[in-house]
Amino acid sequence: MNKYSPPKKPGSLLERAGEIYDYIPAVRTVEHRSDATEALALEASRQNVSTVPRRPMATYDGPRVIVDREKLTEAGFIVPDGPVTAISEEFRIIKRQLLLAAKGSQKCEPVPHGERILICSAHPNEGKTFCALNLALSIAAEKDNEVLLVDADFAKPSILSSLGLEGNKGLMDALADPHLPVENCIIHTDIPGLAILPAGDQTNADTEYLASSRTEQVLNRLTQNNPNRIVIFDSPPALSASPASVLATHVGQVLMVVKADETTETALRDALSLLGGCEHIQLLLNGTKFSPTGRRFGSYYGYGE
Ligand SMILES: Nc1ncnc2c1ncn2[C@@H]1O[C@H](COP(=O)(O)OP(=O)(O)OP(=O)(O)O)[C@@H](O)[C@H]1O
Ligand SMILES: [Mg+2]
Repeated sequence: MNKYSPPKKPGSLLERAGEIYDYIPAVRTVEHRSDATEALALEASRQNVSTVPRRPMATYDGPRVIVDREKLTEAGFIVPDGPVTAISEEFRIIKRQLLLAAKGSQKCEPVPHGERILICSAHPNEGKTFCALNLALSIAAEKDNEVLLVDADFAKPSILSSLGLEGNKGLMDALADPHLPVENCIIHTDIPGLAILPAGDQTNADTEYLASSRTEQVLNRLTQNNPNRIVIFDSPPALSASPASVLATHVGQVLMVVKADETTETALRDALSLLGGCEHIQLLLNGTKFSPTGRRFGSYYGYGE
């Protein structure tokens, strides 16, 4: 994902990482396969008829909190029904690949539990929350899918504040209290298709709760009445906190955020080994200063910039 366009600089982390990590069979870079990604995006957009109206929200008719659009704009997030930007175009491509894995196609089977996507990185501040929220906003705009964004960074939750929302009970409360239905913790927003599950209160045993058998039951409840729901988990950094590796065992896909020119190869390898519980891992290069393919979205003819 680009921050701004060329001047060209040789040997980006992506280019260097592409060769180095390609031999890890489960891992593919999202941006590195740009041609394939574009082809998939085209194929998928042909399958998705844009005139299909949004499916009605299946299970919930209660109140919805209002997301602060100004806050979204200030922080550089995709604004629903806002202008097409480079970021929104990049997330359109990223989500398409993830949705294909989640739903499958005529050519490939869906990844088991591919509807559960963990956003992770090796270290703090590499853009996990930025990517998780933008991905959620982008998927929420889909006609056929809803998205539940789960704040799984129990020690340092930031999804609610990023959206200008107040605290609430959340996932950890539902894991710790067998009498608390997780559905009661979900916050429905005024953005069509977007709901939030806050982190809840941190405990001294977050990782143990996540590793308990109740977690799978709780996560199943998130989609049992909502087969079109994609569940995105914003996680803590893999090398700084233990929950990420346990979360990886519960999801079908991991999107590993790599901070351009900051995440080291050693850190990335180390983090990937901790996330081995998930077989389907893709890398997302964040904060690049140039596009290896010269591709840059958001400013071409038709989008008015
Ligand atoms: N591609 C990007 N373009 C612009 N700003 C970005 C980008 N990626 C991240 N940022 C900004 O960098 C900062 C850190 O990002 P973010 O909070 O998403 O990191 P994180 O990995 O979730 O950190 P932590 O591990 O502490 O939760 C935020 O202010 C975010 O808005
Ligand atoms: Mg974060």
